[in-house]
Amino acid sequence: MRILVSGGAGYIGSHTTLQLIAAGHDAVIADDFSRSKRSVIPRLEALAARPIEVRVVDLTDRAATDALLESAGFDAVIHFAGLKAVGESVSKPLDYYRVNLGSTLSLLAAMARQGVPSIVFSSSATVYGEHAPVPMEEDFPTSATNPYGWTKVMQEQVLRDAAVADPSLRVALLRYFNPVGAHRSGTIGEDPSGIPNNLMPLLAQVAVGRRDKLLIYGDDYPTPDGTGRRDYLHVEDLAAGHVAALDRIAGSATQVSTWNLGTGTPTSVKEMVDAFSRACGHELSVEVAPRRSGDIAESYADPSRAEAELGWRATRTIDEMCADTWRWQSNNPDGYPV
Ligand code: UFG
Repeated sequence: MRILVSGGAGYIGSHTTLQLIAAGHDAVIADDFSRSKRSVIPRLEALAARPIEVRVVDLTDRAATDALLESAGFDAVIHFAGLKAVGESVSKPLDYYRVNLGSTLSLLAAMARQGVPSIVFSSSATVYGEHAPVPMEEDFPTSATNPYGWTKVMQEQVLRDAAVADPSLRVALLRYFNPVGAHRSGTIGEDPSGIPNNLMPLLAQVAVGRRDKLLIYGDDYPTPDGTGRRDYLHVEDLAAGHVAALDRIAGSATQVSTWNLGTGTPTSVKEMVDAFSRACGHELSVEVAPRRSGDIAESYADPSRAEAELGWRATRTIDEMCADTWRWQSNNPDGYPV
């Protein structure tokens, strides 16, 4: 298939682009490079051993998105592009609604015009809200606690409604748990702009000396060691989930499919700190701080639907996730050059 990968220069998009190419698909990256660096592209081309077509497009621009889809005869879209920092979404909610909803609306309109039948969407476990029991199942009700989370809930609804109106449309809603890790080569990985929000890039930056210590946000949660537990999954497993979802929805009788992508096994903050120390070979400095507002004690998937319907399962261990993150971060202490 010829696949448009929106946000294909980003963390999950770049790893997925490589796996699409390895699976024999033709992947075209559309990115505005507002939160990614251009130097990822030659690295991807080196890993893929072939040139990769890249279009610099702002997907909130309807005319530009139409022109992109008109030009290329796509069979499917994988839509990663969007803003994703929870804290920033609270201070800049309108940017989050404009960019995240706007890009999805432009893509869907252009897909309808060109007759592109399939879209795989980057959703998040954040749509289960703050009171969901664990493990989380796809049929649980959705809600959110911040504008970023609401954009994911709303984009899912927009996609469901678009499918009702167009019986030829096939949609996969992929609810990611906590993606971490990097490509084994150590040449591509997660390079957040500004101060990272998430545990793994923060741990990696402490390990490489870019920050003094990690603050552990709360050790008084009702969990075995008192720290928050999450379902970390390797970005390469996550990328494989996209390839499987794309293959599954093409020509499927089901119009909208929702799949959790997680391991089903939670790991605590303290366990992650220990695993990362093993990977980088030295102790990491940590300090217990108050809970972070909006955090929940535990989040982990029931991944059984993805296993049954996609034949997909996350197989890489926490130690592999830390080792691969460390390889990337130690080879690229400041992330991508430009
Ligand atoms: N944590 C710390 N110190 C830090 C950063 C995080 O102790 O400096 C802890 C958090 O309290 C939490 C765990 O590490 O217990 C994981 O935190 P992350 O920020 O890495 O991940 P979250 O689960 O909080 O957030 C992620 C995504 C969001 C998404 C959310 C729910 O980043 O986009 O999952 O799906 F909304």
